[in-house]
Amino acid sequence: MKISHLSNLHGEINIPGDKSISHRSIMLGALASGTTEVSGFLQGADCLSSIACFKKLGIEIENNCKTNIVKIHGKGLHGLTAPKEVLDVGNSGTTTRLMSGILAAQSFPSKVDGDASIRKRPMGRIITPLSEMGASFECLSNDKCAPYIIHGGNLHGINYNSPVASAQVKSSILLAGLYAEGSTTVTEPALSRNHTELMFESFGVDIKVTNSGKTVTVNSGNKLMAQHIHVPGDISSAAYFIAAGLITPNSEITIKNVGINPTRDGILTVCKMMGADIKYSNIKDDIGEPVADITVSTTTLHGCTIEGDIIPKLIDEIPIIAIMAAFAEGTTIIKDAQELKVKESNRIDVMSTNLKLMGCDIEPTEDGMIINGGKPLHGAVIDSKLDHRIAMSFAIAGGLADGDTEITGAECVNISYPSFYNDLYNLTK
Ligand code: S3P
Repeated sequence: MKISHLSNLHGEINIPGDKSISHRSIMLGALASGTTEVSGFLQGADCLSSIACFKKLGIEIENNCKTNIVKIHGKGLHGLTAPKEVLDVGNSGTTTRLMSGILAAQSFPSKVDGDASIRKRPMGRIITPLSEMGASFECLSNDKCAPYIIHGGNLHGINYNSPVASAQVKSSILLAGLYAEGSTTVTEPALSRNHTELMFESFGVDIKVTNSGKTVTVNSGNKLMAQHIHVPGDISSAAYFIAAGLITPNSEITIKNVGINPTRDGILTVCKMMGADIKYSNIKDDIGEPVADITVSTTTLHGCTIEGDIIPKLIDEIPIIAIMAAFAEGTTIIKDAQELKVKESNRIDVMSTNLKLMGCDIEPTEDGMIINGGKPLHGAVIDSKLDHRIAMSFAIAGGLADGDTEITGAECVNISYPSFYNDLYNLTK
């Protein structure tokens, strides 16, 4: 994929459905009684991995990839059946961790495996609490990594203080908690995305949220009822166009139907801190998930410091924030983001290496990066490391750099945003 000379981005864009909410709709739909109908489902490879896994667990799922409507014929909390094959999660950390919470409670064993990136990602963070609840994990190669076999069983509730602010860890434990004897409580050090909690509420699960959202308790004995779910556009996908609209000369873009859940909207806060004017219109609320159209236009941005509790609210957007920082005046400091090292790639390393190749003044740190912005960037050959968010971030940077940029492994955008390059191209017409 070669990219150069982005300018004059104009028009409206409809963003594909939210990845986190799409995954959860499959899982809760499978565990509910009756047919859950999902519209706006994300047809990205990660969410298709969730569909494939739950089909292997005996759930009938109809996916119309033209209308993005998915029907999940749920069989209730105890309706899953033993898979005949390995559950292949592909590149999807969310499928791995959330599904493992459900598998931890099943009376049959299941083998979970994924691609080379998944095999390197830390699973100790779910293996520890799920084992405390009574499941056992047989790791087949590296300790605390996939592939593993989960031997599920009679779980009991725990009171877990998670060392990381991670919605995947929180959700995995809460899903296991649906089956555990007694109540299950998770407390996290900072609030992570709360889509599981909101969707639990709409499916009729009795949960208690306290401590400003950071502590969540679920009891067993719930009966989930099928729902209609409309998945809002993914703010993590919108982020590339928000950034592009701000840093591309002579541009104004309206991004329609973006989920602006306050546990996900850190990118908007950062854009404002950097001097952007974000206009919201058509604000509405869908099953507790707020949605709006967002309009941005070309702005001179300035650097800022991003740290602390905002980090989980923008963790997936840090690659594109780093690109904005490279084009901003002054210094941007990103701290408290050591989680970036264990995403689809080590995003601290990969962002620093690639931005340096383009001539940016950037230094990686233990928990983030320091970017002295404003130096003109030049084209380069960028290795995406098959990380979708790296490929999309450098498509924007490459379009604004002098000369051509080539992105290797560029097709990995299929993980979360299959039509990304087309959508970007359409804004140039
Ligand atoms: C996700 C949570 C985040 C995020 C990931 C999706 C989710 O991971 O990075 O892309 O759907 O719960 P962590 O919760 O592990 O930080």
